[in-house]
Amino acid sequence: MKEIQAPVYANIEINISRAKSSAVSAAHGITPAEFAAIEERVLAAHKILQQERKEGKYGFYDLYKDKETLADVKKAAAHFSSFGYENLVVLGIGGSALGITALQTALNPPYFNTLSKKRRKGAPRLFVMDNIDPDTFRAMLRLCPPKKTLFNVISKSGETAETMSQLMIVVALLEKAVGTKAMKDHLVVTTSPTGKGAPKSLLHPVAKNYKLTSFSIPLNVGGRFSVFSPVGMFPAAMMGMDVDAMMAGCAAMDTLCSRASLMENPAYLRAAIQYLMDVNKGKTMSVMMPYADALRDIADWYRQLWAESLGKQKDLDGNDVFTGQTPIKALGATDQHSQVQLYREGPKDKIFNILEVRRFNTSLRIPDTLSSIKELDYLRNKSMNKLMAAELRGTMDALKASHRPVVRIILPRLNAYTVAQVLYLLEVETAMAGRLYHVNTFNQPGVEEGKKIARRLMGGEA
Ligand code: PA5
Repeated sequence: MKEIQAPVYANIEINISRAKSSAVSAAHGITPAEFAAIEERVLAAHKILQQERKEGKYGFYDLYKDKETLADVKKAAAHFSSFGYENLVVLGIGGSALGITALQTALNPPYFNTLSKKRRKGAPRLFVMDNIDPDTFRAMLRLCPPKKTLFNVISKSGETAETMSQLMIVVALLEKAVGTKAMKDHLVVTTSPTGKGAPKSLLHPVAKNYKLTSFSIPLNVGGRFSVFSPVGMFPAAMMGMDVDAMMAGCAAMDTLCSRASLMENPAYLRAAIQYLMDVNKGKTMSVMMPYADALRDIADWYRQLWAESLGKQKDLDGNDVFTGQTPIKALGATDQHSQVQLYREGPKDKIFNILEVRRFNTSLRIPDTLSSIKELDYLRNKSMNKLMAAELRGTMDALKASHRPVVRIILPRLNAYTVAQVLYLLEVETAMAGRLYHVNTFNQPGVEEGKKIARRLMGGEA
């Protein structure tokens, strides 16, 4: 196994050729006329998005520019890292959990929590607790004794029942194990800002009472768009990730995604294709299929972003529209042996987004062994990398042969810079898609209702 070195600063690429009518027929691919017809709508939407960005309506675009917050994040991470904790436990759900999970899987080595501290380069093990399954939570508590653990509770609203219940369990344990005074060394809060006009967060009094380090999520940044705020960046810095390279990746993508022209803006191009596939071609499902284990949780993060942002009953004028493509996560090559039968021969209701790395971080040769088995000659002395590339190409060509459209996102290498580009691209794409569907991308009324009902069932106020 040898490590491959390559330049860090190379941009991701988007390849839409397999989503065009010339590749998969006019019934399943976008025609030049359809691209031309949507161009004007994209331009109009671009003007609105840019105007509203300027007015400060959408904070996610500019999070990477907030150098002061990043400096605070890095300073706090250095401070808490100096304690040498064995574990970092994130308490949060949805947008408060999926971003750091995606980053950890993408940017830290596989099986991270099982590695020695030396192999983890001194970083703690990471546990992202995004559920209230009592068996899992108790198991985590056994693995993470309070004295050896830093907890980061993350909730923008500061009232999510799942997160609050986790916090209450943790506070009680910390009180007992380290005492009230030392609580500030074991618990960090990330929530909405304090101050005049700011909404109430139940985490504010917690932070105040225990004198905790506290990070703010800007009010104009929604949970699923918050990965580049302290929601994602504090745990990322704690985990030894290169947050500066991430900010550089966002900046590079912002430059590309600020272009007005449909054909020159990768986010708008992807948004337009997915939208047209849904409304013109009946592709009501959007599959995100990374061909790298490291990228699998980006598909999970994107699933929330796409579903919660676009799955809406009402349009911006209050009409019932019931929009939204159903996002599906898959993994290549694994799911070739699970889902691809359906993808190729089942209903023609899907568009495929393939997320791929041009070069893996390692190269692994398949050795010259089992020489008596001639049927394995084709694998002998090749690399696993080459086999993965062949499997990917095989699946894409097979999908094309059955007229299934594919859009490719290609990372030259897997690193903080390219991964941040992907996340930023997908955020801008979602914002544009929301405009094309003419819905409010940034709310989630369907989620709020369930939260209220659950609270009532627990005897609380709705
Ligand atoms: O994207 C969103 O806004 C939601 O998915 C939230 O992230 C999720 O509901 C958790 O909310 P909160 O951070 O307020 O606890």
